[in-house]
Amino acid sequence: MSNVLYEVKGNIGILTINRPKALNALNSEVLNDLDAALDAVDVETIRCLILTGAGEKSFVAGADIAEMSTLTKAEGEAFGKKGNDVFRKIETFPLPVIAAVNGFALGGGCEISMSCDIRICSENAVFGQPEVGLGITPGFGGTQRLARLVSPGMAKQLIYTARNITAQEAYRIGLVNAVYPAEELMPAAEKMAASIAKNAPIAVRNCKKAINEGLQTDIDTAIVIEEKAFGDCFETHDQREGMGAFLEKRKEKNFINK
Ligand code: CAA
Repeated sequence: MSNVLYEVKGNIGILTINRPKALNALNSEVLNDLDAALDAVDVETIRCLILTGAGEKSFVAGADIAEMSTLTKAEGEAFGKKGNDVFRKIETFPLPVIAAVNGFALGGGCEISMSCDIRICSENAVFGQPEVGLGITPGFGGTQRLARLVSPGMAKQLIYTARNITAQEAYRIGLVNAVYPAEELMPAAEKMAASIAKNAPIAVRNCKKAINEGLQTDIDTAIVIEEKAFGDCFETHDQREGMGAFLEKRKEKNFINK
């Protein structure tokens, strides 16, 4: 699985897309490896994932243009589904996923970052959906997630013009939460992951599910989704532990994901 590296640091997992010669472009093999790498994550012990790209230049420079160049209509649709299935797996993954965007995040690269829960990036990051310049639409969720994450008008402008934007512009439009000098990006991602990992895992996971599912429905249904997520935390060890620690004025908490 050399196209995707997986490193465990305590209770944090770091997935690195590792095809630097092609700026980490996503071909079928990389997508398969990423799918398998996600399946191999131990969701019992790991509490947060970070997704990044190998090398100093690129997070992911998009879907593989060479592979796509000769596809038929049916093959194109199937390739879109392949990417969408993996990205949806990230989006619905039980653990929070932070995208540490360390350079180019174009096409499928921007799209994979948008399937993560949180995006932070380095100062040299470049975001964009260049697909219409290649004669195609975004195919791994870009038309849907960009419009939901920023605004329909901004998403349409970026997608129709195929213009790349800087890290600062991505920050200004709310596509990323923070911008760091390159050498500070991974430490910042790990610090954020640690501050998530110290909280009650069932509660954090239920928050992810409630936010994601609630955003796709009407407010009355969404509120019920939250009620279920909230109720589900009660009677857990970690709810007793979290509230007990507060009541006993205890700083240390022992959350065990139960
Ligand atoms: N697919 C395949 N190979 C790619 C690639 C991609 N998306 N992006 C980069 N590469 C390869 C290049 O072909 C090159 O390979 P060779 O050395 O064998 O020639 C290598 O990576 C290095 O790239 P460059 O020499 O081009 O590096 P650069 O620094 O001059 O330019 C770049 C960097 C601006 C990112 C440029 O590589 C580029 O424009 N890449 C394509 C970006 C793009 O259009 N992405 C969208 C793809 S479509 C898509 O993603 C569809 C979808 O929604 C599913």
